[in-house]
Amino acid sequence: MKIKSFLTLALGIVILQSCSSKKSEDNQQKDSVTVNKIEKTSFGTFPDGRTADSYTLKNANGMEVKITNYGGVVSHWTAPDKDGKYEDIVLGFDSLAGYLTPPPYFGAIIGRYGNRIAKGKFKLEGKEYALATNNNNLNHLHGGVVGYDKVLWTAEPIEGEEPALKLTYLSKDGEEGYPGNLNVTVIYTLQKDNSLKMDYSATTDKTTIINLTNHSYFNLSASKNNILDHEVTLNADRFLPVDKGLIPTGELRAVKGTVFDFTSPTVIGKGINDEKDEQIKLGGGYDHAWILNKKEGNELSLAATVVDKTSGRKMEVLTTEPAIQFYTGNFLDGKLTGKGGVNYPKRFALCLESEHYPDSPNQAAFPTTVLKPNETYKTTTIYKFSVVK
Ligand code: GLA
Repeated sequence: MKIKSFLTLALGIVILQSCSSKKSEDNQQKDSVTVNKIEKTSFGTFPDGRTADSYTLKNANGMEVKITNYGGVVSHWTAPDKDGKYEDIVLGFDSLAGYLTPPPYFGAIIGRYGNRIAKGKFKLEGKEYALATNNNNLNHLHGGVVGYDKVLWTAEPIEGEEPALKLTYLSKDGEEGYPGNLNVTVIYTLQKDNSLKMDYSATTDKTTIINLTNHSYFNLSASKNNILDHEVTLNADRFLPVDKGLIPTGELRAVKGTVFDFTSPTVIGKGINDEKDEQIKLGGGYDHAWILNKKEGNELSLAATVVDKTSGRKMEVLTTEPAIQFYTGNFLDGKLTGKGGVNYPKRFALCLESEHYPDSPNQAAFPTTVLKPNETYKTTTIYKFSVVK
């Protein structure tokens, strides 16, 4: 009798213990699902001894994004193909050295003003400002000689189910000729649904202009082919024609009946070489701002969809911005060799840069890009990946 009750008691304890250890395993499992660790590694050293870091964000599906605090560059970004294989879908380099050449803004945060400002000049509150004419000695491009793509940001990893990297940068009054101390924050969040969200915000102590974006170069074939077979849809009935310096003429032109019509899925290669189209000739392909169809003005809405039928990869771009620069890598020329020894020839990748219209500071009819001291600049852009079978 004694032995029996002892055995019952012992059995009870064993069951209880195994239950509680099962419970703690469950908790651990739950923890490993809900907290995706962010790995920090060295990205390289500058000639002056400063160092840059790389942060790896992963979600539970297996999507992986590497971001460096140098220029806020997204250097590596995987997405699944139709067989569930995650491969890198952006152009770039494995370490800092490749970014010091410098490359054409691969993956970087662009600021203080993305795209062009005619002759590098603009007037604000009666005062004339002169910026670098770093684009063919003609116009100002992507923030100047040392834009936000070429500075070290302060990085703060935020671990969780949806890991994030918060990047901050103080752009000093007068830097690259822009007025006002501008406190900029960009938060990259890798979401559960295989999207990377980019939240931009900024405040200034003097009236200034601002137009922030990200300059990732996408190749959904994971650099196996060029992008001419990628199928693009843009939620835009109008685009901005440009002059020979790629400055918008001020006209808002209907895409209907032109090779700029991407209102239904259209293969890039279809119209990109249409030399009869003056705008294609001027851009050397597509390098224009499309004006997004919006209901409210600044709601987060679908701007673009890109599908690579061969791999089955699909990318959707959502943004609060009024326009998107669709650029087809026309200036790539095969001189750069990136990750995995892959060479980057002309039109090897595409960019979809959410933005305000280029040259807005000089074009009163365009939505304003002015930021005042009592205001907060806030925009969001999301790149979401899925699969089409
Ligand atoms: C943007 C511009 C292009 C080019 C690239 C970078 O997309 O519109 O003209 O300058 O950036 O090479």
